[in-house]
Amino acid sequence: MNPKAQIAVLDAGGQYCHLIARKVRDLGVYAEVRASETPAAALGGVRGIVISGGPSSVYDPGSPTVDPAIFDLGVPVLGICYGQQLMAHLLGGSVRKGDHGEYGMATLELDAAGEAIFAGVDGTQQVWMSHRDVVESVPAGFRAAGSTPTCAIAAMADARRHFYAVQFHVEVVHTPRGRQYLENFVFAVCGCAKDWDPRNRVPVVEQEIRECVGGRRVFFFVSGGVDSTVAFTLCTRALGADRVRGVYVDTGLMREGETEFVRRMGNLSIEHAEEQFLGALAGVTDPERKRHIIGEEFVRVQERIIEARHIAEENWILGQGTIYPDTIESGGTAKAALIKTHHNRVAGIQKLIESGRIVEPLKSFYKDEVREVGRELGLASELLDRHPFPGPGLAIRCLCSEFDAPLRATADGIVVPVHSVGVQGDERSYAPVIAIDTLDHARATGLINRLREVNRVIARVAGAGTEAMQVRACSLTPARLERLRKADAIVRRLSHESGYDHRVWQFPVVLIPLGTEKAPDSVVLRPIDSVDGMTAQSVTMPHDLLEGMCAELLRVEGIAAVFYDLTHKPPGTIEWE
Ligand code: XMP
Repeated sequence: MNPKAQIAVLDAGGQYCHLIARKVRDLGVYAEVRASETPAAALGGVRGIVISGGPSSVYDPGSPTVDPAIFDLGVPVLGICYGQQLMAHLLGGSVRKGDHGEYGMATLELDAAGEAIFAGVDGTQQVWMSHRDVVESVPAGFRAAGSTPTCAIAAMADARRHFYAVQFHVEVVHTPRGRQYLENFVFAVCGCAKDWDPRNRVPVVEQEIRECVGGRRVFFFVSGGVDSTVAFTLCTRALGADRVRGVYVDTGLMREGETEFVRRMGNLSIEHAEEQFLGALAGVTDPERKRHIIGEEFVRVQERIIEARHIAEENWILGQGTIYPDTIESGGTAKAALIKTHHNRVAGIQKLIESGRIVEPLKSFYKDEVREVGRELGLASELLDRHPFPGPGLAIRCLCSEFDAPLRATADGIVVPVHSVGVQGDERSYAPVIAIDTLDHARATGLINRLREVNRVIARVAGAGTEAMQVRACSLTPARLERLRKADAIVRRLSHESGYDHRVWQFPVVLIPLGTEKAPDSVVLRPIDSVDGMTAQSVTMPHDLLEGMCAELLRVEGIAAVFYDLTHKPPGTIEWE
């Protein structure tokens, strides 16, 4: 353990484990992540311990645990999600599978009894959840301190020993009072002193770049998005423009106008690889295969350019704008589950990482931090405030189906056999979606928590009725990509003209193979609110704007209907694949 760390975050494999350490450091206190089984003796000197969430159940054989001796160190402990369940399990309480899941938004009733950790957070409040297992009984010495309608023990406290635990995620932005809980724990309970300044990252990152690159040059993939542009700028500053070469790859999967936007940036060379990418993706329907193919094609482009220009391979390393969520969602820590393989984390890239041939200046940052760094670098807000756009581009927003399949009417709605990715209890889910007929977020959350067979809820807002539609076998064809590109351009133009694009963090437009004989596809609108992309809230939009969008979208050839995604993250991921 770094002697500087005042708080140790024990990693049980949760999606937000690294985020806990970041949020503590944001409070001005140095925190570090450690393996959950780290021996208590190796944690000497810390003032507090946090046990993270994770994808396992405490009763699974081999599930992550902690050294029980940490509870004898006389140091305060805070368990979060799986961390709460593990504390209950190890200290004499009990845990069981919940009757329902609880994913995304929940309403907590917190009953504080004077404990410092709960100062200023008493009462009813929104929290963000992601679990199915629940604590059934608290260990001796604890009291149950909070509940939600689905979870009877959503917080527990043993003030005498300074052991606390919460089922909800205090580290995510969608728990609005989360920062207060962490602040109370770190300062009032653990007595930490401020010793860390989260600002002034630029010189540190530039030094890291110089150390990593040494005397070599950097070949940098730049997409025109925030992450790669900020990372590229950092490399250029650290090494000098003559040692960094920025390349934008037109994969044929970009949005309308994107290549022109990048051309206007002026400092990048443009590599046309549309046929290469679309050829490799022809006939592919599975989302993970799409992601792997795209990542590997990027590696091939790099090899081709290096070869064509007769540059000695050992003199070059690859630069990427990878950020931390790409790593964690790709299953990039010891116990984390694979949610989706981000394009910059495929096998070919992992090989380059292992051989020390990659520089990723932003790999431990989140999107909001990248934007802050970009502002420190003086980059234009026109660039920094762009909505995130995923590296695999429209390929992962153009859903495919291997088979023709009918819809199924149920008492709760119409089950549409189009599968999408979700993140539930820190694990990947891949399940059909259910369509309802009202824009009702609360109903959508209730349905996902109750139904196990679906992980996403959409509402039909315009166009053909579901009784006239079915899912048809289809893959990623140029015609379908063009259809999606047109739909995306309409949504972007109308959002921009109305100013709505400033009110949402990201607004994916998804094409699904659900349609009629004449029009085989439908469009799903997915406006969300987020800060770091780790959690997201599906948001409403002005009625007039929605109506205008639907009218234009239904005029696009091949589009039968428009749907609205009502799913938060968790349980759904932001992108569908
Ligand atoms: P999900 O869909 O995992 O997305 O909730 C979280 C954020 O990451 C973006 N995203 C990607 N970005 N390569 C990227 O550079 C990828 O493979 C990728 N997949 C998702 C997504 O748009 C959202 O902002």
